[in-house]
Amino acid sequence: MNEIQNMANVDGVITPVGEARIPVMDRGFLYGDSIYEVFRTYGGIPLFFDEHWERLENSASLIHLRLRLTREQMMEEIRRTFMASGAGAAGQDVYVRYCVTRGEGPVDLFPNPELPNRYVIIVKELLPWRADFYSRGVRLAVSQTRRNPINALNPNIKGGNYLNNVLGVIEARELGADDCIMLNDAGLVTESSNSNVFFVIDDDICTPGESAGQLRGLTREALNEACAAHGLDILLRDISLQDAANATESFITSATREVMPVRSLVFPDGHTLEFPEGGGELTRQAMAHYRDYVERYLRAHADQRLN
Ligand code: PDD
Repeated sequence: MNEIQNMANVDGVITPVGEARIPVMDRGFLYGDSIYEVFRTYGGIPLFFDEHWERLENSASLIHLRLRLTREQMMEEIRRTFMASGAGAAGQDVYVRYCVTRGEGPVDLFPNPELPNRYVIIVKELLPWRADFYSRGVRLAVSQTRRNPINALNPNIKGGNYLNNVLGVIEARELGADDCIMLNDAGLVTESSNSNVFFVIDDDICTPGESAGQLRGLTREALNEACAAHGLDILLRDISLQDAANATESFITSATREVMPVRSLVFPDGHTLEFPEGGGELTRQAMAHYRDYVERYLRAHADQRLN
């Protein structure tokens, strides 16, 4: 396999990531005043490019930011960065993160609406998750840190300030787990630090509804559709810690993880619930339906190939 070079594109200037620079007065750096998306490619085709763009537009509207680039311009800049990384020639899939900051301005919380936004695209090697996260599962712990409430910092803003999630994952590591589950202020399950969470409760796959307050994950949405097409409905419902304690399977989803089984969950009282290694029956069905869905998507979107 050929090597690729991790590249960044800052407002059209493409360099190796280690050489990319943004000014310290950028509001993304000063205030976390930015939004972003992450996707991966499959055979050079971005997965869910349009859906990611729509989510970025939604984040932009939630933070009152007017995007300077159009969807087509962003796609073209991503393509140029991808080609510069050598991934096209090497036939390698990549991780793509594109971010829009509110730009550079004086130290002033109020953002002058005239500031031109800055975009930063990172195209890098797609690092595999630890193999045992799939063969056995990922270990989660419920953090004391609660997810930002919708009326404080709406989790549907995929923004550049991830301190809430960073604190959650630090706590989980201190508890010997790999990642966290965060509750909302009513004590209901929301999501993991950068993935959505599902439980099998009373033989149904369940995930928190919109009102719990989590990011509208695109993997989660695709999985809902994929499963529904096979007559397997995923229930959107409130999930309390008591409900989670009655779960028999669990998994998490994200663009880079796809469907990843959960092996164990540590509760705030210290007790640990174990789930089937490598995922139970419904988790395995969900994994298979998602894989088929992605294959169908890629066949239908071959024209979006970056190389
Ligand atoms: N994270 N919840 C949060 C808080 C996330 O940051 C993410 C994605 C998800 C899953 O969304 P999706 O299925 O659209 O990837 C849920 C990305 C992968 C990241 O930050 O790297």
